[in-house]
Amino acid sequence: ARITLRQLLDHAAEHDYGVPAFNINNMEQGIAIMEAAQAVDAPVIMQASRGARSYAGDIMLSRMIDALTEMYPAIPICMHQDHGNNEATCLSAIQHGFTSVMMDGSLKEDAKTPADYAYNVAITRRVVDAAHWVGASVEGELGVLGSLEHGAGEPEDGHGAEGQLSHDQLLTDPDQAVDFVAATRVDALAIAMGTSHGAYKFSRKPDGDILAMHVIEEIHRRLPGVHLVMHGSSSVPQALQDLFNASGGEMPQTWGVPVDEIVRGIRHGVRKVNIDTDCRLAMTAQFRKVGQGNRTEFDPRKFLKPAMDAMRDLCRERFEQFGTAGHA
Ligand code: G3H
Ligand code: 13P
Ligand code: NA
Ligand code: ZN
Repeated sequence: ARITLRQLLDHAAEHDYGVPAFNINNMEQGIAIMEAAQAVDAPVIMQASRGARSYAGDIMLSRMIDALTEMYPAIPICMHQDHGNNEATCLSAIQHGFTSVMMDGSLKEDAKTPADYAYNVAITRRVVDAAHWVGASVEGELGVLGSLEHGAGEPEDGHGAEGQLSHDQLLTDPDQAVDFVAATRVDALAIAMGTSHGAYKFSRKPDGDILAMHVIEEIHRRLPGVHLVMHGSSSVPQALQDLFNASGGEMPQTWGVPVDEIVRGIRHGVRKVNIDTDCRLAMTAQFRKVGQGNRTEFDPRKFLKPAMDAMRDLCRERFEQFGTAGHA
């Protein structure tokens, strides 16, 4: 059955668990997530980026969600727009059956000027008003998160907002978070807490504190009814990097967010945990492995089935680690 983000995360907050939000672009990823959820009895958040919507097409995506809902009747599914950039993206997602949208007004927030903040508040509030009229939930974002934002306003030298702002300026300001939530009435809030998008988060093995736990704790203490969202939460497991590289890939050594750091975040109010890179890597490492191991193979299913199975195993692991398992 379809469920809104608000319904799902209210339950997660009541029972102290987190929910991974996996990105989907195609049938294989959809089935991988649902098989994992079914195996451990976990509720699901699937999210589609603007890129996913143009890749698969809105009608295909929306019928896929219909199909998955019918195939797995016992599993609650929240279908969410990831990083919506304006009202049109968010409202058209709802028209296509999404039960939740992210209005990411921080995409334009590189410089962190008062005008950028006012823009974020105004556009997010407009989306909240419209979405709540029709029973959909809204995630907003406050703060400078990472590569997506950098990409939006990146100068030629490749130094985005991260290069110009100090570490503290990159983190969400708790006072501003309180103001933002009151002004927008969002159901969930993505905060900048030290992560970034993509595979290349840390260039050394993270030792000690990765997440700005004091910021998470402070925002959670002051906004206990608002569900916190952690973007850029792939762990980029070493085993997947090794398999990728052993099969002809050339991925430079990198480190993601350790799962136990995410689990600490969940103890302090993080409820939605966005994961895309890990799923991509799990799948494409299998493509490489199959291609390298059997150079005559040309049946796409021989590539896609192991890829699907690898993504399923990864999703299942996260459902178990985040405490989502058993809550469908
Ligand atoms: O945060 C972005 C997600 O990883 C989606 O990426 O825009 O390439 O589909 P995408
Ligand atoms: P990763 O790149 O760490 O998987 O983050 C995905 C994300 O935040 C999607 O919104
Ligand atoms: Na999102
Ligand atoms: Zn994100």
